[in-house]
Parts: sequence; structure tokens; C-alpha cells
Amino acid sequence: METKLLTNDDNSLIEAAELLKAGKVVGIPTETVYGLGANALDVNAVADIFKAKGRPQDNPLIVHIADIKTLETLAFDVPDLAYKCAEAFWPGPLTMILKKRKIIPDVTSGGLDTVGIRMPSNRYARKIIEYSGLPIAAPSANLSGSPSPTTAMHVFNDMNGRIPAIVDGGMSAVGVESTVIAFDNDSIRILRPGFVSREDLLDICKNVIIDKGVLEQLSPDTVVRSPGMKYKHYSPKADVTIIDADTDKFREFIKEKADRDTVCLVFDENDVKGIDIKNINYGKDSKEQARLLFDALRHIDEIGAKKAYARCPEKSGVGLAVYNRLLRAAGFQVIKL
Ligand code: TXA
Ligand code: MG
Repeated sequence: METKLLTNDDNSLIEAAELLKAGKVVGIPTETVYGLGANALDVNAVADIFKAKGRPQDNPLIVHIADIKTLETLAFDVPDLAYKCAEAFWPGPLTMILKKRKIIPDVTSGGLDTVGIRMPSNRYARKIIEYSGLPIAAPSANLSGSPSPTTAMHVFNDMNGRIPAIVDGGMSAVGVESTVIAFDNDSIRILRPGFVSREDLLDICKNVIIDKGVLEQLSPDTVVRSPGMKYKHYSPKADVTIIDADTDKFREFIKEKADRDTVCLVFDENDVKGIDIKNINYGKDSKEQARLLFDALRHIDEIGAKKAYARCPEKSGVGLAVYNRLLRAAGFQVIKL
């Protein structure tokens, strides 16, 4: 199969929507990361997403909608708190886990009786969904285990020959996947941190819990609320370690370890000043780090490094999402100095 790169003019978006209506899988831009979209209600189309990604069957997909009316056609017993969140953060990078209606096939929900729903804000994503008239299931458009794609080229590198088309919407504005939340009585549980932070959610609800799986390594047989959290993720081939230290201690550590096969993921050049070592700048604040992290992780392998030492992001606000992804890329290896 040849993979066509579509631009983001209206004709291309209509072409993408037509492919989706015909049961095909299309790479689509969103504000978080690129998704591999297909008709969420079509068992065969959704099965093709799993095939293209090489994704474990028990890992459910997020269903993307373009208007709030669609919500109740896919989910029932939607709590008031969910409507409050939708009002505050939709369209945007927030996914809500809700009770699913029968119309959602088991293959889409990974056999669960719930479904994750999100209304993206990216204008190309919204138009594609609107033109198709369908709820669109879309996981991140990377091969299972690889860093999520934040450019059409990342998608092309992973999916060339596996899907018929990719829509190029430029670089993803947020850069990490959506915040995934579930509702327990009157509390919100964060299953995956994202751009909508715990602090943001506290404006809506007094009780916001961070699920254990966000910061701890779970064994593959643990029963978890969000199956995606137990899988190896976002990993470059190189061995990544997070160095939790201030600039001076980081520099001292790197001076000792520096060699030709090693690269540093730094906030700015100052972190490796005077040291002869390759480095990748991944941003000086949490928002920039969110935007650049996945590209930086792909870059580690492109330059052929065998080892990578990354400066540790903030563990609050958007930084928690960056830390959560980096922890997985590092296989939970952290050195605290
Ligand atoms: O930003 C995003 O969310 C991107 C873009 C494309 O929208 N999508 C994305 O999908 O990141 P994916 O499949 O790579 O990650 C979905 C996460 C997984 O960790 C999955 O286990 C969890 O959401 N999830 C989906 N449905 C769920 C459900 N019903 N219950 C619990 N967790 C669910
Ligand atoms: Mg993913």
C-alpha cells in the first residue's frame, strides 16, 4: 500500500473524511499528537488500527467527537462533573472515561464497559470529524512502543505502507497526549496526565486524585483502570536515564560520564557548558518540553546514541505529563543526585 501525504486544504480534509467513511485508517493531526483515525463504530476499520500499530488488543481507543450532542449517543449516565469538565476544557486535550453504550463495539473499548471520549480543538481534526459525520477512534499514530508522533513526518516514518493517507497539519501544538480522567463519585481520577493539569482540574472539583500508575511501574499482570499505562512506551532504542539534579550536579555527573555514544537531553546549552558531549535541547519550561519531548526522543536514535541522560522535568502542572512520558521512555530509571 502506498501512503499518501495529504495537505490541510479543504479538499484534502474532505478526501480524508471520505476515506474514513469508506472504513479506512487515516493519520490525522490533533493538538496533542497525531492520531490513527478510523470509524469508531466499524469493527473492521478499528481492527485495522490495531494491525497498523501492532497494538495489544486489550488497550482501548479514545473516541473523538466534534460536538457535544454526540456525547450522549456514545455514553450514558454522564455525571454532572463530566459536563463541567467539558465546558471548561472542550474542545481540548482532555479525555473522559464514561459508561459506553452498546453502539461502541468491544474492539474499540478493548472489551471494557467504558469508553474514553475527547473533543479535539485542532481545526483540521474537527473538520475531518465533521465532514465524516462519524465518531473517530484514534490512538496515537506511532508504532506500538515508539514515541508518539508530533509531525506528519513522524507518522510517515512509522506508518509508511501501513495506511492509505496522512493529513499534514504541521507540528502538534501541545505535544503530549490528552489528560485521561475517570469519575469516582464526586472525585476526578487522573489516569494519564496531560496538558490539562491536576491544578486546572482542581478549579472544577475539590478532589482530584493522581492514579498510582502515573508515577509507578506496574507489572504487566496488574489490573489497571487504564490499560495503556502498563505497557512499555515512548522508548527510543537507546538506554535512557533521568537525572534528577540541579544544573551544577547534572553538569558534574555528565562530565564524568561523557563519551561519544552518549547524548544529553537538556533544558538549555548551559546544562552541558564546557563539556564535549552531544546534546538535544528539549525546552526550558514545561510547556516547551511537552511540545519537544517526543521529537527529542526520536532524535536520540537518529543520531545513533546508545545512552541518553535527561534532565528531570518539573513534577507539577504540565510538567507532570512530561515526567510521566519520560519515566516510561527511561523504563523508570531515575538517578537522584
Ligand atoms: O491525545 C490523545 O489522547 C491522542 C490523540 C490522537 O487524541 N490519543 C491517544 O490515544 O493518546 P492512545 O490510544 O495512544 O492512548 C489512549 C490511552 C491509553 O492509555 C488507554 O489505555 C486509555 O487512554 N484509555 C482509552 N480508553 C479507556 C477506557 N475506556 N478506560 C481506561 N483507559 C482508557
Ligand atoms: Mg499512544
